[in-house]
Amino acid sequence: MLQNKKILMGITGGIAAYKMPLLVREFKKAGAEVRVVMTKAATEFINPITLATLSENDVVTDTFPDSSVPTVKAETWHIHLGTWADILLIAPATANTIAKIAYGIADNPVSIMALSIRCPVIISPAMDTYMWENPVTQENINNLQERGYFIINPEIGELASGLSGKGRLPEINKLIKSVDVFLQNLKHDMTGLNILITAGPTHEPIDPVRYIGNRSSGKMGFAIAKNAAMRGAKVTLVSGPSHLQTPNFVKRIDVETAEEMYNATVRNIRKADALIMAAAVADFTPTEYSEQKIKKEDGDNSFSLNLKRTKDILETIGFKKKENQVFVGFALETNEGLSSAKVKLKKKNLDLIVLNNPKIKGAGFGGDTNIVTIIHKSGKEENLPKMTKHSIANELLNRVLEFYNKQ
Ligand code: CTP
Repeated sequence: MLQNKKILMGITGGIAAYKMPLLVREFKKAGAEVRVVMTKAATEFINPITLATLSENDVVTDTFPDSSVPTVKAETWHIHLGTWADILLIAPATANTIAKIAYGIADNPVSIMALSIRCPVIISPAMDTYMWENPVTQENINNLQERGYFIINPEIGELASGLSGKGRLPEINKLIKSVDVFLQNLKHDMTGLNILITAGPTHEPIDPVRYIGNRSSGKMGFAIAKNAAMRGAKVTLVSGPSHLQTPNFVKRIDVETAEEMYNATVRNIRKADALIMAAAVADFTPTEYSEQKIKKEDGDNSFSLNLKRTKDILETIGFKKKENQVFVGFALETNEGLSSAKVKLKKKNLDLIVLNNPKIKGAGFGGDTNIVTIIHKSGKEENLPKMTKHSIANELLNRVLEFYNKQ
């Protein structure tokens, strides 16, 4: 996919910049054309001559480049490069550059490019954990995701500071793969769509140390989120507690309880073109939360807990569905699956429901495959063979798109 692609690289001043010459070389080896712009701070870490040699192109290091450099037009280089590129990859992206891009500040070659670019922008942040976790950085990242920038999540590992944590730039081969997969999926048949997805279990707290949960891993919902983002959709993923890594280019909202999931879903539903509820939401939650850890007393042979119903998210918002919205539910059934799923489809005013039975080998929680039946509002039933959750995600998204386009 990289053959003949025009890749514009924006390098900013983080220690991971030292890896960029290798990335340029790999892009070139794969047949891509590469141009590089870099900040002054980046030139402290690597010499532009190295990048110019490897990319076989002059490198822009200043807002007003030396006009004697033949391939860089001193006054309008940002417009030329902005229309030339198929993709702008900013790596490593420092917290400083991320903040500048989020606020439209254009005071160095990379932030200028981010503002004048005409193609998709991939940002690969790399920084110290504390800088990454700082709420300002997180807010800027969220804002950028909202506006359609694609974020490659930094990895957890050893950092230049000697500390270990989140903030590492992914290895070169992973960066190449991300760009390659991104370009492959650039068919972008879901561009312009806002997709809201819920995933994972919910945890209903009993006391500070205990909760009621379920076995959902979140894998199905995360696979849908990943694939929708790769197909160009703007994806918001409301996730219950899950250790899964946030898929690249996805905006994640973490929640814990059914009530928090309800609130996050309701807050984001208005702008959504489709809602896919893959989460296993608790139907009941403890009536009361004990502030102190509940102790057993001598002689206690049993213990009972009072539970109350949670709000059914789909049912509550299903009937407020706007004309052109597509709503998809999941039904997890261990018996009488088909009839029960059809009842849920009607009761929750859904367009599609995905039925699966966790008791069948190769289906359900935790694994990488699933066996599902997709039931349409028209009554049509489609039995899909055993597939990876990744493939099921794409099959489902095809149907969501069909529904959306028909309306
Ligand atoms: N769901 C929801 N809010 C809840 C419970 C479930 O929005 N409080 C959604 C799930 O995300 C799923 C669908 O409703 O998309 C069906 O969930 P499921 O648990 O299978 O069905 P329930 O309606 O809860 O019925 P039951 O548990 O009695 O089978």
